Parts: sequence; C-alpha cells; structure tokens
Amino acid sequence: MTWMITGGAGFIGSHVVKALTEGGERVVVLDDLSTGDPARLPAGVPLERGSVLDRGLVDRVLREHDVRGIVHVAAKKQVGESVERPLHYYRENVTGLQTLLEAAADAGVSRFLFSSSAAVYGMPDVDLVTERTPCAPMSPYGETKLAGEWLVAAAGRAHGMATASLRYFNVAGAANAELGDPGVFNLVPMVFERLDRGRPPLIFGDDYATPDGTCVRDYIHVEDIASAHLAAARRLADDPTAALVLNIGRGEGVSVAEMVELIREVSGFTDAEVEVAPRRAGDPARVVASAELIRKELGWSARYDVRDMVASAWEGWRLRHPAPEH
Ligand code: UFG
Repeated sequence: MTWMITGGAGFIGSHVVKALTEGGERVVVLDDLSTGDPARLPAGVPLERGSVLDRGLVDRVLREHDVRGIVHVAAKKQVGESVERPLHYYRENVTGLQTLLEAAADAGVSRFLFSSSAAVYGMPDVDLVTERTPCAPMSPYGETKLAGEWLVAAAGRAHGMATASLRYFNVAGAANAELGDPGVFNLVPMVFERLDRGRPPLIFGDDYATPDGTCVRDYIHVEDIASAHLAAARRLADDPTAALVLNIGRGEGVSVAEMVELIREVSGFTDAEVEVAPRRAGDPARVVASAELIRKELGWSARYDVRDMVASAWEGWRLRHPAPEH
C-alpha cells in the first residue's frame, strides 16, 4: 500500500517521509512548496506539487498512486500569525483538511493520520497533560487543530477509516544537518540567531510560578515525532477501527533558562549574556505531556534527550548559516 504524506517536503513532514520509507512503506508526497523544499526528500520519493485545497489534484494523486493511507502534516503553524490571519488559518488548516477527507472518503482511503498540537490544550493547569485534560485552545492556530481532530474522528467513524490525531509538543532537533528546521519561529533557532548576531538571547519572563521562574515545556526530537508516526501507521494498518488521540512528548519538563544554558554550551557561546525580556502574551507557564497513553497504545517512547535535540539543531543551523569568518 502507498501512504500519501501531505507537507512531506517540510521540516516535520520530511522526517516522517524518512521514517516511513526506512520502515519499508511506500510513500508519495503532496506539498505546495510554500515552505517545503524538494531537496529534503529521499531519492525516488515522488513529489506532487500542489495544495490539499485542490480537490482535482488530490483525487488524481490518490488514484494514480493507489493511496490507501494519508498522513496529513501540511498546515500553517505560526501561533502569532494565526491571530492576525485567522481566516487564512481556518481555510488552510480546516477547509484544507475537509477537502482532503472528502477526497479520502470518496477514494476509499482507510487510514488517516493527522498532525495535531499541544496547542489544543491552551493553558493547562496540570502537572502532566493527559489526553483527557480539557482542550481550550488560546489561538486560532490551536482552534484549527482541535476542529481538525473533530473532523478526522467524525469522518473516520462515518466512512470506516482508522484514524489517529497526534498532538506534538515542542518539536526540535534534526535527523541530519540537511533536514534542519529552516524556520526561526521557536526557542532553539531564535536563540541561535541572537547568538550569531552577537546579541543576548531573550528569555520571555522569569517570574512564572515554576522552579526557576521561566516557562517549562516538553521538547521532543523531530526523529522521535517521526518514529511515532511509523508506529501509528502500522497500528492503523492492523486495526481498521482505531480512533486514537495521542500526545507525542517525553513527559519531561525543561525550562527556558535550562534550554538557553544548554544552547550556549553546545554552540560554544559560553560567554554570551542572556537578557530577561517581558513575558510574551499567551505563554502558559508549564506544558508537559503525559506520554503514558502512546506508550500503552503503540509501545512507543522517545529515544532522544534535549542535548541530542540542541546538538543536531545546531548542526542544521550552521549548515544554513555558516559561521562568519574572522
Ligand atoms: N522563548 C523565549 N525566548 C525566545 C523564544 C521563546 O523565552 O527567544 C520561550 C517562550 O516564551 C516559551 C518557550 O520559549 O515559553 C517555548 O517557545 P516556542 O515559541 O518555541 O514554543 P511554544 O511553546 O510557544 O509553542 C510551540 C509551537 C506551537 C505549538 C506549541 C504547542 O511553536 O506551534 O508549542 O505546545 F502550538
């Protein structure tokens, strides 16, 4: 059988493509290349260029490649941008998904894996977030992911598709330098960028009710994210009635101050000053996954720690941003 991976030329999608192909699965990638890059794909993986909103294109790709399962990674993912452009986010993330599900149902696709996010939880007031923790997204981005989960579950029930929504926590790292994150939207690359410019990395708020006053997150290596997809894909292939919603995290909290310290060490900028900036609007103090359910359901757990993430992300950063010569 063939899996269609939407967004397969992007940062996370290309890691999913790598894991599935190395796991012996046949894949085809659908990507509009708005942020993706064909160079991220392993040799021999077919790329169809276009949007999930293009029903005719999706129908053709499903038919021509005899697709039996879909991993839907393609989406807009910047929280701040989603506040400014909610209609764009709903169109891309919700209407796009709806179009894809309609095509999937009509083509008899029987497995559907959806990239969701810890953003569905909003500001969880618990030590470890379980899949039963109430969802209360704080941004249009988080709303589109929660609405997406509902669409996936309802379509799965009605059309006999095995489904899984995977809630990613804070993704970092890279399988190799070439597959590094090209964006500068998250803590790790934002700190790299400041350090490279000779400016102090910023810590947004140090007066949170956490052990060192800075926000705590559950960082997860993108290769672990990818291996969870392979495990979920196999489960959906074995269990036509599966309807899973699972956190993908490590179950371990790391503070912003700890991450910044580790980044200084790994990048060699050990003398760099660090600046405490005001809190960033909408940041929850602590978001850490319970990773129990995915362990129980898929026998999956994370292999990599934060040092692996920072070291591999740094290699990827240096490939894209060579050190200035002195
Ligand atoms: N931070 C800093 N300084 C920086 C950048 C970030 O202190 O220069 C802090 C943030 O305030 C936050 C933490 O680092 O406390 C992590 O910030 P990120 O922007 O890397 O990640 P978020 O936790 O805000 O959000 C991430 C993804 C979202 C996703 C969410 C799910 O970016 O897409 O995790 O939990 F929805």
